[in-house]
Amino acid sequence: MADTKKTATLSYEGKSYELPILSPTVGPEVIDIRKLYAQADVFTYDPGFTSTASCESAITFIDGDKGELLYRGYPIEQLAEKSHFLEVCYLLLNGSLPTEAQMENFEGRITRHTMVHEQMHYFFRGFRRDSHPMATMVGVVGAMSAFYHDSLDINDPWQREVAAMRMIAKLPTIAAMAYKYSIGQPFVYPKNNLDYASNFLHMCFSVPAEDYTVSPVLAKAMDRIMMLHADHEQNASTSTVRLAGSSGANPFACVAAGIACLWGPAHGGANQAALEMLREIGTVDRIPEFVAKAKDKNDPFRLMGFGHRVYKNFDPRAKVMKESADEVLDLLGIHNNETLRVAKALERIALEDEYFVSKKLYPNVDFYSGIILEAMGFPTAMFTPIFALSRTVGWISQWKEMIGDPALKIGRPRQLYIGETTRDYVPVAQR
Ligand code: SDX
Repeated sequence: MADTKKTATLSYEGKSYELPILSPTVGPEVIDIRKLYAQADVFTYDPGFTSTASCESAITFIDGDKGELLYRGYPIEQLAEKSHFLEVCYLLLNGSLPTEAQMENFEGRITRHTMVHEQMHYFFRGFRRDSHPMATMVGVVGAMSAFYHDSLDINDPWQREVAAMRMIAKLPTIAAMAYKYSIGQPFVYPKNNLDYASNFLHMCFSVPAEDYTVSPVLAKAMDRIMMLHADHEQNASTSTVRLAGSSGANPFACVAAGIACLWGPAHGGANQAALEMLREIGTVDRIPEFVAKAKDKNDPFRLMGFGHRVYKNFDPRAKVMKESADEVLDLLGIHNNETLRVAKALERIALEDEYFVSKKLYPNVDFYSGIILEAMGFPTAMFTPIFALSRTVGWISQWKEMIGDPALKIGRPRQLYIGETTRDYVPVAQR
């Protein structure tokens, strides 16, 4: 972190406190308040962390006003067009694009870690068939710490590396197993002669009874969706992984905590909720009814897939996803897709509406992704598991960055206490 010698002055209770200003390579400066409580016996207050930087990081940068997203400095639009998911994994983990030899070695190591311990199959039998696949993933990913004892020591850089490889490699296998289990079909093993995205589609859609050839169109669309979801700065699930990791918990348990947080409809669960909302709207003529509900302060309904804590302009991922939706549906021969028609009309109507314009609410990454995933044959319940397997590289990259920081401290926020002051116990006969 660059130290600029600039300071901010806080006046409180008749005293002045000089707080250091720290400068980024790009984006807002930060006021360093780490010594504030010791100096002034006062806390800062920011429950939703709307104005709080929780850490320093060199992985992902977002400019919400410009609608800009950089992975290690590379714009998401360029990576989505020119790169592929495993190359983005290497970039996020290591900080630079790989040489050909580095990519070949990385891809080989990931490929050879895609199988899970055979005994993990028994975990699935403990779940009801109609369990949400996210429930299964939280359980099975957490259980990885019961199997891979040789990559639990977070103080050993080599074990951290192996745990990272194992999670990037095995999450698609576990997600596919959760899907197969939910539809009563046998698990399908990964194949080392398939690329990462094709392997995931193979494990989801092939059956032992017949040969299955992965469509290159779907594999490319799947790979692009994985790239768009790979990392996103200090979002709720990444912050969950960091907070869990700050106590020294093993990486598998930390990622399981991240999966649990991602499941919420305000976060990664929004892709499922957005498609279900588009289905409920059904036709373009019903859009005004739902827009009115979204604007009604007394109605908890929100337009799912709209709005973002950081983006106050278009989410650049939503733009790429919207282009992909057109391309994939067209290549699949799906024309006049009513859901896509409703989505595009809803976007147009909302972006012309004063409420959405004034609050700077734009479509986010979750608005169009479900349309592509549904066209690929996935049920809505698989949308967030796909987000989770794609975000695993982001979680584990951020976790690695944090664990490797010698200044690491356990995350332990304070509070604004508004409860009772000290009072004596009252025997029940006197209450
Ligand atoms: C993801 O953080 C990340 O980076 C997340 C993510 C990632 O890659 O990790 O980008 C992935 O989670 C994307 C967001 C997916 N969630 C949804 O699409 C759910 C619908 N969106 C909202 O719930 C909301 O926009 C949030 C949760 C995304 C952001 O909420 P904030 O930043 O806390 O903003 P807010 O709730 O304070 O909203 C500001 C105003 C409010 O009105 P006022 O109280 O000021 O009058 O805008 C309104 C909100 O009521 N508003 C909406 C709305 N989103 C915000 N009104 C209608 N529909 C919406 N979708």
